[in-house]
Amino acid sequence: FNVPALRNEPVKSYAPGSPERSELKKALEEARSKLVEIPQYIGGEEVFSQNKKRVSPPHDHQHILGYFHEGNTEDVKKAIDSALEARKTWAVMHWEQRAAIFLKAADLIAGPYRAELNAATMLGQSKNAYQAEIDSACEIIDFLRLNVNFLTDIYKQQPVSSDGVWNRMEYRPLEGFIFAITPFNFTAIAGNLPAAPALMGNVVLWKPAFTQVYAANVIMKVFKAAGLPDGVINMILADGPVAGDIVFKHADFAGIHFTGSTKVFQTIWKEIGENIGSYKTFPRIVGETGGKDFVLAHKSANAKALATGLIRGAFEYQGQKCSAASRAYIPSNLWDEVKGYMLADLAEIKMGGVEDFSNFVNAVIDEKSFDKIASYIEGVKNNPDDAEIVVGGTVDKSKGYFVQPTIIKASKPDYVTMCEEIFGPVLTVYIYDADKFEEIIPIVDSTSPYALTGAVFAQDRYAIQYATEHLVNAAGNFYINDKPTGAVVGQQPFGGARASGTNDKAGSVLNLLRWVSPRVIKETL
Ligand code: SER
Repeated sequence: FNVPALRNEPVKSYAPGSPERSELKKALEEARSKLVEIPQYIGGEEVFSQNKKRVSPPHDHQHILGYFHEGNTEDVKKAIDSALEARKTWAVMHWEQRAAIFLKAADLIAGPYRAELNAATMLGQSKNAYQAEIDSACEIIDFLRLNVNFLTDIYKQQPVSSDGVWNRMEYRPLEGFIFAITPFNFTAIAGNLPAAPALMGNVVLWKPAFTQVYAANVIMKVFKAAGLPDGVINMILADGPVAGDIVFKHADFAGIHFTGSTKVFQTIWKEIGENIGSYKTFPRIVGETGGKDFVLAHKSANAKALATGLIRGAFEYQGQKCSAASRAYIPSNLWDEVKGYMLADLAEIKMGGVEDFSNFVNAVIDEKSFDKIASYIEGVKNNPDDAEIVVGGTVDKSKGYFVQPTIIKASKPDYVTMCEEIFGPVLTVYIYDADKFEEIIPIVDSTSPYALTGAVFAQDRYAIQYATEHLVNAAGNFYINDKPTGAVVGQQPFGGARASGTNDKAGSVLNLLRWVSPRVIKETL
């Protein structure tokens, strides 16, 4: 079990004049100047179709980066057949051979593909260079490398033997294929959802979000360059319901690895339930879904640290992280000071395309998302008794889907933007009586059905302990005096419960355990 030591990939700074900045600028220019044809990858074949869909940067929607080739029912069936064919050799390949492929993929992203993958994430998903570096370079490298350590932790777990008896545990992959459905917001999650089950010996159908195919295509190229055998991970670009209709009725469907909306996950779960009699094995259902992540401040909190946590937590990547701070409970004694700091920070923040590295805020992912966010903002303007806009509130989709970072002050804690997931750069604050900290806690706990991330800011240890104990089920990732975003693979295993998912903690042993089906062998000697 000698594998490379646990370590997180160092984050590059992209400082002006740095070599990484010039390399990334070059990759961006190159990507903007050519048209890419994005195929499906089925059994190692690049499959092109007549059904081409345009790919454009969300911050510059008239520019064409290329086209992806949408797939159909037949493609999904072929992908399943290819996966099952590949399974015959992949499932019995020694784990060291599988691990070497994913370690090599990590090295390729850390080196020769880093700029290309970051540029693809920046352009395709409108994510600035610093956020792309964290996501599509470091986080995916960390998933690929650290998962190999977690694999060995699992394989080392062995039963006790006794005189004349040798007991051993064999960690088989699941019997069938895994379906990975991945989101637009993190390239790293998109890559890890197929890669983690594959590392454990499974074969996978991967359906990335159509809004993320540009970077997903680069990941497939990396997997191929790393030597991943044909058919182990098949990237299909069929519409969700088209793919689902085939996958969830297939006898060999063995598990789903999902990140996306709560509603879609519930639909999938029901569909699996309806077909439960037709599968060879009970499928594993693993999903990370929505969030309505909170920041709770106590009257003893450091106002500056709180303001910084709110700005970064709510507005990095336009609030489109499932972990983003979107509802904040601020004690009355701190509000003026915190507001002052936040307004000063926001006055400095620039919004625009990713090509200009000084833009902190870029566009939201697509028109549908833009319209949804805009309607929440419009709702505030129409309900002056319930809420007011403290700052922001301007939206413009003429060139790209731009929503100005917006802070809403709600006059009641159950105002709609305190409860519903908006997935955009919108933070709602509720100002509570600074002496009623204990009374605000049940409200924080019960306002939303989600329980992904949350943060408490306080200097008073009693307040920290009280919030930690009384919000025990309100978040799967709980932060003390820090923003609720930015979990690092291996450092803060990630996931939440309630309406936020099955809490199988991406970036840890717990996730990989879902992709094995152990067999115990007792041998009498
Ligand atoms: N891992 C990300 C974060 O913590 C969310 O998926 O922000």
